[in-house]
Amino acid sequence: MKNTVLTFKEAKEQGRKLSMLTAYDYSMAKIIDESNVNGILIGDSLGMVIKGEEDTLAVTIDEIIYHTKAVKRGTKNALIVSDMPFLSYHISVEQAVSNAGRLVKEGGANAVKLEGGANVMPQIKAIVDAQIPVMGHLGLTPQSINAFGGFKVQGKSEIAAKKLIEDAVNLEKAGVFSIVLEGIPEKVAEIITKSVSIPTIGIGAGKYCDGQILVYQDMLGMFNDFVPKFVKQYANIGEIMRNAINSYVNEVQEGLFPEIKHTFKIDENELSKLY
Ligand code: KIV
Repeated sequence: MKNTVLTFKEAKEQGRKLSMLTAYDYSMAKIIDESNVNGILIGDSLGMVIKGEEDTLAVTIDEIIYHTKAVKRGTKNALIVSDMPFLSYHISVEQAVSNAGRLVKEGGANAVKLEGGANVMPQIKAIVDAQIPVMGHLGLTPQSINAFGGFKVQGKSEIAAKKLIEDAVNLEKAGVFSIVLEGIPEKVAEIITKSVSIPTIGIGAGKYCDGQILVYQDMLGMFNDFVPKFVKQYANIGEIMRNAINSYVNEVQEGLFPEIKHTFKIDENELSKLY
């Protein structure tokens, strides 16, 4: 069954937890979509886990469209949410709507996600008015790392927590269908979750959120450059891959691969004419 924004709404109403994962290509999207996952995010985290950059800031709208198209081909059931990268929605409301539209029209996204609260409210309202579902994103928003002075947990003081709560309430008023809460204290996420009637999706925000999201390379043990405290590794696929790749390289070097069963034959008669 295809997940839609209504699935997200009903899940909150009925107290069912939502699960989301990131994906950036066809084969991974297909594997993820074969589970009961509710949503797939083409996150700007691709700057780090796909491109090997230090942060998400250099990711472009064209890159997100490219990866959204690939994910779209592998996805039947999950809601496809595409990230709006840094500066694709900050310059003007018109540009924000135009870029959100490109993610839907060219990429095939069902919804877009963008980071921020009061500072991006006009953009969110305009995108929602254009009938494009918007997922908000508050807390440790990676596009603000220079302003935050690094990847630092947000909402730890009374003032900062109150600002997050206020932003969440205003995001709901602006029409977002869901809000990602990243890198904030569990109790603050709980208050936010109780203050809004749309689902909150946590990453490093504890168990009271209405759902959870993880970057798949983190939860499968495929990306060890930096493993945040909030990540649970459900498998060590990186180790399995390294072992398999080492076996392949060794077998090639030792002449053990390919075997007869991996090769194609030519008729003896045709072959004899080659000598
Ligand atoms: O870019 C991303 O993958 C994200 C999630 C971690 C929420 O924004």
